[in-house]
Amino acid sequence: MPNHPDHPTLHVSDHPAVLHKLALLRDATTEHKKFRELVREISWLVGYEALADARLVPLTVRTPLEETEGSKLADRIGLVPILRAGLGMVDAMLELMPTAQVWHLGLFRDERTLRPVEYYNKLPDQATVDLCLILDPMLATGGSATAAIEVLKQWGAVHIKLINLIAAPEGVRTVAAAHPDVSIYTAALDRGLNERGYIMPGLGDAGDRQFGTGGG
Ligand code: PRP
Ligand code: URA
Repeated sequence: MPNHPDHPTLHVSDHPAVLHKLALLRDATTEHKKFRELVREISWLVGYEALADARLVPLTVRTPLEETEGSKLADRIGLVPILRAGLGMVDAMLELMPTAQVWHLGLFRDERTLRPVEYYNKLPDQATVDLCLILDPMLATGGSATAAIEVLKQWGAVHIKLINLIAAPEGVRTVAAAHPDVSIYTAALDRGLNERGYIMPGLGDAGDRQFGTGGG
């Protein structure tokens, strides 16, 4: 995943498997069960790319035939799904990193002000990991991501990455301006936001589409 030419902290996937699944994810006729499967599959693929620079330690492994040199992940990883929509990304990331810890952070956007409101925080007392991965399908205004990063930094997290499925340029700029040390990994960079703060063309409301809420 190369750095985006207009946004130095942004990495946008161009993998054919991601692009194929992304079109299905956006499709308004994709029903909730299929939508959840796609969130999981794309999260795995983007998460895989986000871990390309993870640190390793060598180890010796015995095959049925002989000993050989192998590697294991050295970074202790914390996954921070932003409720609700980030929940659908957790299982895929745990498949990639079974020993990761999971800390839930509840934020919702006030529909009028578009500002994030924190309502749940399950971080332990002290930062105990080397790398925090924030999981949220949508980076719109960037308010929620910025709030999450600030919570993690105050708590002591040093190395943070943001994993999204769809990002808007507005959100990328907001996060990059406040936190240029945080790399952003996404399956798509969309055109922009509409007057209600929705990403265009986007996929609609990621929480509602996963969990069947919203009356649609
Ligand atoms: C969505 C999404 C992000 C946020 C992005 O959550 O999952 O957390 O909006 O918007 P922002 O970049 O403008 O902050 P939402 O507030 O809809 O809550 P939900 O997941 O509970 O539906
Ligand atoms: N949150 C969503 O779920 N979708 C958007 O387009 C913007 C914020």
